[in-house]
Parts: sequence; C-alpha cells; structure tokens
Amino acid sequence: MSAPKKLFIKTYGCQMNVYDSERMAEALGGEGYVETKSADDADMILLNTCHIREKAAEKVYSELGRFKGLKAEKPDLKIGVAGCVAQAEGQEIMRRQPLVDLVVGPQSYHRLPEMEAKARTGEKVLDTDFPEEDKFEKLKNRPKAKRGPTAFLTVQEGCDKFCAFCVVPYTRGAEVSRPADRILREAQDLVERGVREITLLGQNVNAYHGAGPNGDMTLAQLIWELDKVDGLERIRFTTSHPNDMQDDLIEAHGTCAKLMPYLHLPVQAGSDKILKRMNRAHTAESYLRLIERIRAARPDILISGDFIVGFPEETEEDFQATLDLVEEVKYGTAYSFKYSTRPGTPAAERTQVDPQEADDRLQRLQALLTKQQREVQDSMVDRDVTVLFEKAGRFPGQMVGKSDYLHAVHVADCDRAIGDLARVRILSSGANSLAGALIE
Ligand code: 5AD
Ligand code: SF4
Repeated sequence: MSAPKKLFIKTYGCQMNVYDSERMAEALGGEGYVETKSADDADMILLNTCHIREKAAEKVYSELGRFKGLKAEKPDLKIGVAGCVAQAEGQEIMRRQPLVDLVVGPQSYHRLPEMEAKARTGEKVLDTDFPEEDKFEKLKNRPKAKRGPTAFLTVQEGCDKFCAFCVVPYTRGAEVSRPADRILREAQDLVERGVREITLLGQNVNAYHGAGPNGDMTLAQLIWELDKVDGLERIRFTTSHPNDMQDDLIEAHGTCAKLMPYLHLPVQAGSDKILKRMNRAHTAESYLRLIERIRAARPDILISGDFIVGFPEETEEDFQATLDLVEEVKYGTAYSFKYSTRPGTPAAERTQVDPQEADDRLQRLQALLTKQQREVQDSMVDRDVTVLFEKAGRFPGQMVGKSDYLHAVHVADCDRAIGDLARVRILSSGANSLAGALIE
C-alpha cells in the first residue's frame, strides 16, 4: 500500500471557514489524504481564505509567495485556494500567482476530489460555480472519527441583506437554508462522536427557514428539535441580524435550557444616518429596544457585537452615537473594525473618511469595548457557572473549559475529563480568562 498523501489546510476568517475546512479534509480523506500540521511535508496545500476585509486577501497572496521554494523542491506539490478570495478573484489568483493549481469557491467543495485528480494531471482547475446540489450532502462524513466536545454545524449560508460595505452576498451567494432533517442527522452523528456543544452557523443564521416535516422551520423550532437530542448539552448560534430576531427565538432564550445565554448581534454603528447608508434597515433605537426584549427574556444573557468605524461620510458626531449606543448596551465581547473598501460593494464608491481619523476612532471604541468586556468578565467573580471542559490546562491537575457565557475558565485540582460539565465557583478574573473551583 502506498503511503497516504498529506494535506495541509490553513484556515482564515470566520467559523464557517473552520467548518468548511473540516469538510474539505473529509472529502479529500476519501482520496487517501491525511491531514498534516506542517506545510513542509504536504502533498497538497489548501488555503481556505477570507475576503471580508482587504488585509485578509493580501495575507493570502503573501502566504502563497512563501510556498515558492517548497514548490521548487517538490514539483508534485499541489497548491489550492479555497474560500471567499477564491470566489471573488477566481482566475485572477492564477494570473497573479502561477504557483496555484486549483481555485475552488465555497459552494463547490464537494467537487474537490475530481478537481484534485485533474490537478494531478498538470491541469489548472477552477470552480467558482453556485451549483444547485447540496454540497453538504455530497460531503457526508466518511470515517466515524472521535471528536472534541464542541463542534460547528452550518445550517444556513449566504446573505440577501446587501449591507453596503459587505462582500458576503457576492462571495457566499444568496441565502440558502439546509433542510432540518439533515441538520438533525448531522447533530446526532456529532453527539455519537463525543460532541456535547454545537454552534449552529450561518452568515444570517437567525433568518434560517429550512424545510421541516410541516413546512419551513424557524431557527427557534430547529433549536427545540436539537434540544431533544440526548447527549447534546449546549446549543449556540452565530451570526444573527437584528431584523431577523423573531419572537420565538427571543422566547427560546428564556425557556430552552440547552440554549446558552450568549448572543452575537452585530449593530455595526450607532448613528441612524450611517445605519441607513449601510443599508442595515434598522435604527439605533430599534436595536436598543430589541436588546431590552432579549434581556427581559433572559436577564443574564451576554451580548456580543460587531462594529465598523470610519464608514464613508461618518462624522465625529456619528461616531459619538456609536459610543453612546455601546454605553447603553454594555457588551460582554465585541469585534470592531476600521472600514475597509471592498471593490464591487456600493460603499466603495463613496467619500472615504481620513484613515488617521478612522484609526483614532477605532482606538477610542476599542478602549470602551475592552473596558466593558473586562467589567462583564469581572462581574462573574463569586458566581457559580457551568463549565464544559475542553482541554487540560498548563499546570498539572488543571482543566480549561468554557462557561455558559463563553468565558474561558481555568479550574485547578480538577478531576474531570474533557467533555465533562461541572458547576464551578468563579474565584478571580484575569486578563482573558476566569479562574474557579469545582463545587462539590
Ligand atoms: N470593512 C470593515 N469591516 C467589515 N465587516 C464586514 N465588511 C467589512 C468591511 N468592508 C465586519 C462587519 C461584520 C464582520 C464579520 O466584519 O462588522 O459584522
Ligand atoms: Fe454582510 Fe452580515 Fe450585512 Fe449580510 S447581514 S451583508 S453578511 S454584514
């Protein structure tokens, strides 16, 4: 028997790319590939790329350049670009970087085995179609390998919102929800392989409307079906749009014990003028009222968000409105970005904010968000939380896991195993994590 071929995948960007990379590894696993952690001994290198901001795409090109020596040493090495840069730039990638043998868009991963075979014959292959077939059905898990306690599961993909700054509707395509029975089967399979917590993924996950036994289902209805899966202990979902936050989902946060008290609900900006120009179709006020309703259903819920500063035509006053909104919400975590021009999106044509001014705003926003994040984390001290243990800690006897609120928690003298859940009293709050002790 010949030695297995080795596959090195580097993943950029969001959790959906992490999920997709696992599926690509499984698809190529069927062709005799095993994963390696080092590009140096790979027979095939795949970069699963992100196009959300400019820097992300540039990183891919510089990474590709670094493989030049490797390819010279190993002429049989195949190099592929997957993900959103592949979708957005297609042929341009091969033109700019002749080292690349294969370009595959996010909707074509199930075709990777055929593409790999073609690439082996020396052909350059490109597939950035949006085919009709369900790529996930074609990418069914082959070996029943054991898994860690947490997993992602894509339930919805694509977006029809067309925020003026965002490439997702172009790179991931129109919104498509997977049928509920397939998701439930995949969840069951994950649980049989050791998974205790599933994070449902979608660019617009709360717009989920997949086919169920009695017509389309909402995300909340899907969550209630997952709630019945024995052995599955925790359910999370990300990322949501404020306008799709339906009543049944808000209610589920108060009534479904497996649904974790954590919600990532990006607002992007606090000025109604900017929100309108972003084509967000909500106001600061409507977002704040929504947060109020969610907190009424689940008072201890941790709210997370995304922000963009320096969007075209943002004035100091507009930015101040973002700070005011942040003050009002009090975020437990948040991701904030300087606006980055994406060619082909409507905002790319507009008057850009001075980059230094935008940098200054980003710093001020991040200072406030970091302070809030710290306050929320510190408020956990002396409280009892449930922790799902994910790995051993750095010190003997120490275990590390996540609380319901997604805070990392270190527990010393911990006799629990990976995948166990335990009640923990929080004793102290550090830079990026909490420390606690098992409650006997
Ligand atoms: N520039 C900066 N940030 C962006 N995001 C999306 N597009 C851009 C862009 N062009 C941010 C948004 C989104 C997150 C995933 O990335 O905040 O919610
Ligand atoms: Fe992009 Fe999210 Fe807006 Fe869709 S809703 S266009 S994914 S920022």
